[in-house]
Amino acid sequence: MKVGIVGVGMVGSAAAYALALRGGASEIVLVDQSEAFARAQAEDIAHAVPFAHPCRVSAGGYDALNGAALVILAAGVAQKPGEDRLSLLARNAEVFAKVIEGVRGAAPGAMLLVASNPVDVMTGVALRLSGLPVGRVIGSGTILDTARFRSLLADHMGIAAQSVHAYVLGEHGDSEVLAWASARAGSEPVARFAAQMGAAITGDVRARIDDGVRRAAYRIIEGKGATWYGIGAGLARIVQAVRDDQRAVLSVSTFTPEVEGVQDVALSLPRVVGREGVLSTLNPELAPDEAVALRRSAEMLMATAEALD
Ligand code: 2OP
Repeated sequence: MKVGIVGVGMVGSAAAYALALRGGASEIVLVDQSEAFARAQAEDIAHAVPFAHPCRVSAGGYDALNGAALVILAAGVAQKPGEDRLSLLARNAEVFAKVIEGVRGAAPGAMLLVASNPVDVMTGVALRLSGLPVGRVIGSGTILDTARFRSLLADHMGIAAQSVHAYVLGEHGDSEVLAWASARAGSEPVARFAAQMGAAITGDVRARIDDGVRRAAYRIIEGKGATWYGIGAGLARIVQAVRDDQRAVLSVSTFTPEVEGVQDVALSLPRVVGREGVLSTLNPELAPDEAVALRRSAEMLMATAEALD
């Protein structure tokens, strides 16, 4: 599968690198506002390929995206220390107007995978500007927050993150909802499993994990200016689900007709992802406070999208 990436700064290039190492694409094409920069990134990543799986990595203008089955959109500005994701919206929506025109001109059939923040609202922007069917415009959404949640839960219980089944829902941002009520370790509710492991999930533990997930990006940006490895791997994971028609259950963002009484909003829920993109959506069991928090998150995203209009 040929995959394009537009915007190959830290996030776009980390996605390309993760894809190359995982063998997630047969061809990766990098596009950036600076073609020289994209060429340099492509050459660097191509030198990792002999250590991984066969894959052609190149760079070019939008026309080089011709034939791409999927294009990752990672263009735009990123947060500065202390800045939240929503403050990027106006600037990145403007960037997308140009980017989506270029992508659609060269690869009209390509599925779009949005990574630029604020990713939920940008997913809605990409959907409208592209005119693609809903399931073919996917935002990375809370795939990364879900990974952070699983990783902190797994560390606490002393098990592998791959054995934790727990999701973060709603906005990829400050109002996101950690779905504790449906969280499982192996086949057991996470609280019961944790108690059996002698690592009870007390109120303090829960608060620490919630903060660890919700504030992760702020801490990383404070320490090194941006985040890229986690999201790069998350994007590669989504591409593989599409490429191999895996029908994997992933928390990704897409336009959603109704969630907790809020209509027509892009946000994350667990979705079945395969070759045609988002195939279906699951509504996980929620505790009453989680349902209220998810409604608030959806209302906030809706109001933000409307303000942009
Ligand atoms: C992250 O959560 C900044 O959205 C980016 O790592």
